[in-house]
Amino acid sequence: MTEEEILESVSKIEVREGVHRTIKSYALRDSTLDEERRRILLANFERYGAVFKDEPTDMHALFNDPSKDVIIEIGFGMGSSTQLIARDRDEYNYLGLEVYLNGYVKLMRDVAKMGLDNIRLMRFNAVDVLERMVPDSSIKGFHIFFPDPWQKKRHHKRRLIQPAFVHLLTQKLVPGGYIYAVTDWEEYAEWMMEVFSSEPGLINPAGAGSYSAPIPWRPETKFERKGLEKEHVIRELWFERPLEG
Ligand SMILES: C[S@@+](CC[C@H](N)C(=O)[O-])C[C@H]1O[C@@H](n2cnc3c(N)ncnc32)[C@H](O)[C@@H]1O
Repeated sequence: MTEEEILESVSKIEVREGVHRTIKSYALRDSTLDEERRRILLANFERYGAVFKDEPTDMHALFNDPSKDVIIEIGFGMGSSTQLIARDRDEYNYLGLEVYLNGYVKLMRDVAKMGLDNIRLMRFNAVDVLERMVPDSSIKGFHIFFPDPWQKKRHHKRRLIQPAFVHLLTQKLVPGGYIYAVTDWEEYAEWMMEVFSSEPGLINPAGAGSYSAPIPWRPETKFERKGLEKEHVIRELWFERPLEG
């Protein structure tokens, strides 16, 4: 890809921009590229970037080893846990989705330094990626760590976890695939439990209405530390699409 194509591919982050804007689950923070970030992006995009396509696309083919199952992380932030999970659970390929440009470039720099070869990063609205690009029954797992809780009642409609979105995630899972979500916001945890539990295509291995025991391979993130400092309880939700038969 040319430099212009790379810069173009990270500058558009949703399908419907402008007047037909849909409800957004994110508030876009600083999205300018300074010289240093531009350099990091251009140097590493071929190896670690992924470009949104507005058509069903073989997600396995994005990776160096297409035989590995694909896990998608939605909203990786600065990517501190993403890179450790990709390093330590390297039997999977990881596609990280994030709209926050600084976080996107930071994780790209980090994974390049580590030399990982099982991760790709796309700067695009995850809702569009799931709706338009990811084929059904193709993804092994979704990681959603500390999604924005949108605390005020009038903002609840901006929450990522909504019945329609969870239904979409479920359709994208392979049989036996999982959705793993974590939050430190008690009321959002209860909301998520209700939404996941109401999705007929999912089961809760922990038992109806129960949170999962902490998953040992998930490292702590910045948002988690902040929550713990405020003495918030960390809630983990693990749901699966049952194996057929
Ligand atoms: C509260 S942060 C948590 C970041 C990280 N997972 C952590 O635990 O530190 C939530 C992140 O999700 C991202 N996000 C929210 N909605 C998104 C969407 N529809 N597509 C991609 N990223 C999204 C935001 O930009 C933000 O960086």
